[in-house]
Amino acid sequence: MTDITKIKNWLSETYKESVRFDEPMRRHTTFRTGGPADIFVQPSEKTDAIEIINTVSQASVPLLVIGGGSNLLISDNGIRGVVISLTEIRPEITATETGNTVTVTAGAGIKTHDLCRFAIKNGLAGMNFALGIPGTIGGAISMNAGTATGEMKDVVTGLTVLNGSGVLKNIDKNDLIFSYRKLDWQGAEPGPVIFDADFRLTKSDPKAVGDEADKILERRRKSQPVSLPSAGCIFKNPDPENPAGKLIDLAGLKGMRKGDAQISDRHANFIVNRGNAKSSDIEELILLAQKRVLERFNIRLETEVKIVE
Ligand code: EPU
Repeated sequence: MTDITKIKNWLSETYKESVRFDEPMRRHTTFRTGGPADIFVQPSEKTDAIEIINTVSQASVPLLVIGGGSNLLISDNGIRGVVISLTEIRPEITATETGNTVTVTAGAGIKTHDLCRFAIKNGLAGMNFALGIPGTIGGAISMNAGTATGEMKDVVTGLTVLNGSGVLKNIDKNDLIFSYRKLDWQGAEPGPVIFDADFRLTKSDPKAVGDEADKILERRRKSQPVSLPSAGCIFKNPDPENPAGKLIDLAGLKGMRKGDAQISDRHANFIVNRGNAKSSDIEELILLAQKRVLERFNIRLETEVKIVE
């Protein structure tokens, strides 16, 4: 029996209804694209997720751990091996007060937006910058997601991760190397899996936090294509003077289509799926934007989204 067959049998016997075969990944990405995963598993307990990750890793079967699929462009050919999604793990959020500071601990599979809502409801300042960032906390931290008003590194104080040896470990913020849209695991490939994160927020007036949130969301609705499937911004900003959206816009690519994929006519650093786009359509637009911006401005655009082939 091959390793993958053994894993298939073990998962079906042990995790029954949490396991699916040939699962279309378009159901699990915010682009709504991506071919089938051989084996897809969505455990509801953290302990189960740890057991699955460790067992699959030891069997040398390819493994991809995903959160909300908001930063992934998955090939139309799908994914071989096992995909494990952390989004169905029972959501846990706890808050501990020390004077005016509140440490919020949240599970990695919780949506970033839900953590922002928790903060607003409890009058905690510090999280509003992340409103509208798609995906889960784990995904957002692993790429140091952010906006003009903040990034994950500003609020994260520590993580609980499953390291390469299959052991849960606490990591202090001082040992995390964050940079622009990046969390560096110092050569570990793939990086450890984030299971929980601590955020340092500040007690504030609930109305003030709520009003600020409304303004941020309103600004986002006006400038970004929030109602169509996308992966947020496609490219990193090369530098503050040259935001990717502006460069792609100046290169004349706003509204450009390939199949049902389109460079948004609202914000050129978004590619939207207008119906039945394929990942290959999106990839073509990515390559086109990179080519035109290089020709016109001699600037190389680097993707913020991760391409999984
Ligand atoms: N611009 C254009 N044309 C466009 C889009 C933008 O000329 O089609 C210009 C704008 O007028 C503005 C400048 O480019 O002068 C920057 O645009 P914007 O204010 O929209 O910000 P951004 O740098 O494009 C960043 C984050 C967004 C975040 C916004 C708002 C990156 C790569 N993007 O966008 O994050 O929502 O600020 O805070 O850092 C994401 O990471 O997924 C994301 C969407």
